[in-house]
Formats: sequence, structure tokens, C-alpha cells
Amino acid sequence: MATNITWHEGAVSRNEREQLLGQKGLTIWFTGLSGSGKSTLASALEQHLLHLDVTSYRLDGDNVRFGLNKDLGFGPKDRTENIRRIAEVAKLFADATIIALTSFISPYQADRDAARKLHEDSGIPFVEVYVDAPLDVAEQRDPKGLYKRARAGEIKEFTGISAPYEAPPNPELHIRTDQTSIEGGVKIIVDYLKERGFLV
Ligand code: PPS
Repeated sequence: MATNITWHEGAVSRNEREQLLGQKGLTIWFTGLSGSGKSTLASALEQHLLHLDVTSYRLDGDNVRFGLNKDLGFGPKDRTENIRRIAEVAKLFADATIIALTSFISPYQADRDAARKLHEDSGIPFVEVYVDAPLDVAEQRDPKGLYKRARAGEIKEFTGISAPYEAPPNPELHIRTDQTSIEGGVKIIVDYLKERGFLV
């Protein structure tokens, strides 16, 4: 725990930055099982937003675990720390007027609530998107062969098999990826952002 530290206010407020740059920062928090389509959806959304001249940036579970979070595993404590760090990083991106797109399983409601609180306490919008594919569908897709290995006991604490996933009770958006196309999912999110005035 750091002591004797002081917060330095910059010369530019977030409001001023948003007005001058013509873009609002926020975090879109994708949560769902492995293989539910979080990364696919975030990636398609990033591309779509870019064509609208809106800068977004993806933070992705696997990728972040190669660097920033390479010291973390998949036990409950490490997952909580994983999400805590990502929430802080997403908040920095959003503060810089970028739309942060986070795709992490983020299986615990308390961790997602903490990520939301961190944003909302700073006046930064937080949009939770439940990327929902039933376990049997995600398991059938098994794009990385991880479910198969988890079922064989080769991967411990695998979400949905031997570790919990707490579905969000009140997400801003709930997208069933077994019933909605990728383009359909992107449209649901973009329409929501427009309705709320998040795309200026
Ligand atoms: S978490 O729960 O939010 O901390 O997980 P996350 O950082 O999103 O990492 C999930 C990706 O790691 C791979 N992987 C596992 N997932 C779940 N459980 C276990 N035990 C595990 N081991 C490795 C897997 O590729 C996940 O990626 P996605 O994109 O979700 O399939």
C-alpha cells in the first residue's frame, strides 16, 4: 500500500477534452463464458466504430495475460485481481476519450460490480454486455479445444466446467450469440450507444 502520495489534477478536464476531441469515453464491458463470442463481438465492434471515425481499443483476456497480467492464474483471487487491473486500465482509456472494449470472462458479479463502481464514481459510463451462449453451445464451438481438455481433467478451474460463472442479473445489454449474428450484435450495441448519446 503506497503512502504519502498526492493526486495531481491536470490542466485539462475530461469534459474539455471530450468537447475538443469530439468523442466521449466510456467502457463497454463484455462478459461471458469462454467461447461465448466476447472477443469476436468486441473486434467487430471496434472495426465498425472505426468506420464511424470513433476510436475504440480492445483489451482482451488472452492478450492481456501475455503481458500486464502474466503473473496471474485462474484461481478466484487471481481472477479478481485480473479484473481489478483491467477495470483500472479501461478507466484510463475511457478518461482519454477512447471507448474501451474489454473482453474478459469476468465470472464474478462482485468483480464486475467493482469495475462498474470504479467507473461510475468518476462519472465514466460503464456498459455491461452479457455475451450469452449456453454452455453446451460454447462447448461445441470450443475454438481453442479448451473445453475438451477441461473435461479430460487437463485444465483445472475451467469456467463453466470446474469453476463458476455468475451470469449478470442486470446487464445493460444481453446478447444471445446462438440466436444473433455478429453484425446483429454490433447493431444492438451501436443502437444503444446512439440512443444514450454516447456517440457524438
Ligand atoms: S477471467 O476469468 O476473466 O480472469 O479470464 P480471462 O482473463 O478473460 O481469460 C480467459 C481466457 O483464458 C483462457 N483460459 C481459461 N479460461 C477459463 N478458465 C480457465 N481455467 C482457463 N485457462 C485458460 C481461455 O482462452 C479464455 O479465453 P476466452 O476468450 O474467454 O475463450
